[in-house]
Amino acid sequence: MTYAQMYGQWRDDPEGFWLAAAGAIDWVKPPTQALNSSRAPLYEWFTDATVNTCWNAVDRHVEAGRGAQAAIIHDSPVTGTKHVITYAELQDRVSRLAGALKARGVAKGDRVIIYMPMVPEALEAMLACARLGAIHSVVFGGFAASELAVRIDDCTPKAIIAASCGIEPNRVVHYKPLLDAAIDMASHKPDFCVIFQREQEVAKLIPGRDLSWHEFQFGVETAECTPVEGNHPAYILYTSGTTGAPKGVVRPTAGHLVALNWTMRAIYNCGIGDVFWAASDVGWVVGHSYICYAPLIAGCTTVVYEGKPVGTPDAAAFWRVISEHNVRSFFTAPTALRAIKRDDPEGKLVSRHPMPNLQALFLAGERADPDTIEWAQRHLNVPVIDHWWQTETGYAIAANPLGIEQLPVKIGSPSVPMPGFDVQVLDEGGHPVSPGTLGAIAIKLPLPPGTLPTLWNAEDRFIKSYLSHFPGYYETGDAGYVDADGYLYIMARTDDVINVAGHRLSTGAMEEVLAGHKDVAECAVIGVADALKGQSPLGFLCLNKGSGRDHADVVRECVALMREKIGPVADFKRAVVVDRLPKTRSGKILRGTMVKIADNQPWKMPATIDDPAILDEITEALQSLGLAQS
Ligand code: COA
Ligand code: AMP
Repeated sequence: MTYAQMYGQWRDDPEGFWLAAAGAIDWVKPPTQALNSSRAPLYEWFTDATVNTCWNAVDRHVEAGRGAQAAIIHDSPVTGTKHVITYAELQDRVSRLAGALKARGVAKGDRVIIYMPMVPEALEAMLACARLGAIHSVVFGGFAASELAVRIDDCTPKAIIAASCGIEPNRVVHYKPLLDAAIDMASHKPDFCVIFQREQEVAKLIPGRDLSWHEFQFGVETAECTPVEGNHPAYILYTSGTTGAPKGVVRPTAGHLVALNWTMRAIYNCGIGDVFWAASDVGWVVGHSYICYAPLIAGCTTVVYEGKPVGTPDAAAFWRVISEHNVRSFFTAPTALRAIKRDDPEGKLVSRHPMPNLQALFLAGERADPDTIEWAQRHLNVPVIDHWWQTETGYAIAANPLGIEQLPVKIGSPSVPMPGFDVQVLDEGGHPVSPGTLGAIAIKLPLPPGTLPTLWNAEDRFIKSYLSHFPGYYETGDAGYVDADGYLYIMARTDDVINVAGHRLSTGAMEEVLAGHKDVAECAVIGVADALKGQSPLGFLCLNKGSGRDHADVVRECVALMREKIGPVADFKRAVVVDRLPKTRSGKILRGTMVKIADNQPWKMPATIDDPAILDEITEALQSLGLAQS
């Protein structure tokens, strides 16, 4: 089959297409209907089915006689350990953990927060929740306690499962003290916490609230898989939105199973017994979909890598893992490759590790720049496939479907829309524009199975954020164009989201933090181009009149405040004090113009600017930071 035939098949009969894909899933009660439009423009898929995710990711493989196959390979250069967990062991570990959670009252529909680094126990915790029909919400370790507290209050978990610590190359991340601080801050209190003690830092447990991972599972009865309805939320994953409050993206169970399983063959060309590696983190959507769920649902072996692209110990780390574990499809963010390329520009370390099994490299999370793609093509000698997706969709909107037909790669484009996604580029009035014309990228409703049906406890916000601007469409928040061959080009965000090292961050949320500093009267945060991380946040601070504070001190305090409030992941290291911010006559801060000046891009004086002279001051401030050097 060709890509065009496959896309055409979906176009002609979307429901038939997804019902056929549903045939690869083990149902308790198979769906009789694919799409449920009864609340359009809110859609659901496979509402009348019942199913269990953990069964499909674990038990069915054991049942089929593949219990001895590796399910998870943990490779942890930061602790100097490696170990393999087979499907049979995984079933045993997950059903016991689920049994222990059940014995403490966790049941279908209860929320459980998971706050863990890249250890197999993080996947086991996710799968144990899925086994019970409990809804997990994994929080990334690079967030500060207050961000964790916001998530605790939003999803009100019955339990929190955390590790005692995480390990970054330059420090131990104190998960447990962060967790304690977050619970103190939050209004909602979990019934109990389960702490996975790591030998690198054993945490103090709070009697009556904290239980140790091993002790809590001692002697419990294992739990069977609880069937849930097709539309039951599998998990909530918080992501940055246009305001400080993160959005709780809901992932529906049945669509998630069907779509992820479909992508493993069609896009990544992997199946039973193949080794798949996504070098991301379980705290992000890539980690949910392609470290945990999709490879396991498809019966692959997944690699859980606790290390970095460089420095653990060197820029050959990725190639070693691919070579040693026979990885077939590898997925990472362009930033990681840029870090490797910086340390090994000639690609000398690549040849140190033969990678005969590697069939392709997949990139996502941020725009893949041509230099990076070409470097990877040259040194890896496999197709380098950029694909575009979002937390909201959970899998690729546009890709090059390697398992169906490898289309010509066009550098700078994540290729073509996948079945399920009718991607349109619209002008401000919501009219499709012609090929080559820049516009807002929107997807015609309904979105396919597995994409977000709503935001957790925030249906109005869901409608307002995604469905209102262009009626009949889902607004992606990305801008770009389509070429004459139907290839998509993703050029920028239309909102205040910036992408730092493949991490999605909201400059609005950062501005809220800066505005909380007692000497800051007004502020703006922009994302400026960064050779390694794609973008890097930069703050502009206007101080209260007569504050008399030393500017360097205020900047230092703001950097520390951001780390305390959002966390190290914000990577907020630079700010500058200015007298005024450039604004339109109606008072809107001209952030876009500031970005262009900082990045040495051509820019035009905005017709609506209140006082053009302010831009000279901004340029000077940027130059003092080594930016705007034209
Ligand atoms: N837990 C706690 N802290 C974390 C963390 C985690 N899981 N991940 C990152 N951090 C911290 C880092 O230690 C760093 O802290 P520091 O300011 O004390 O140095 C900060 O967050 C910023 O981290 P990062 O943006 O990752 O920068 P870095 O300089 O440490 O590393 C790269 C640079 C390129 C090696 C790294 O960004 C990388 O591997 N990027 C790939 C990202 C990725 O895979 N994203 C997945 C999206 S699909
Ligand atoms: P996240 O929800 O964290 O996965 O971030 C999604 C956003 O990252 C998208 O809306 C894009 O802005 C950006 N993004 C992801 N993949 C790509 C890609 N392949 N090319 C360009 N931008 C991308």
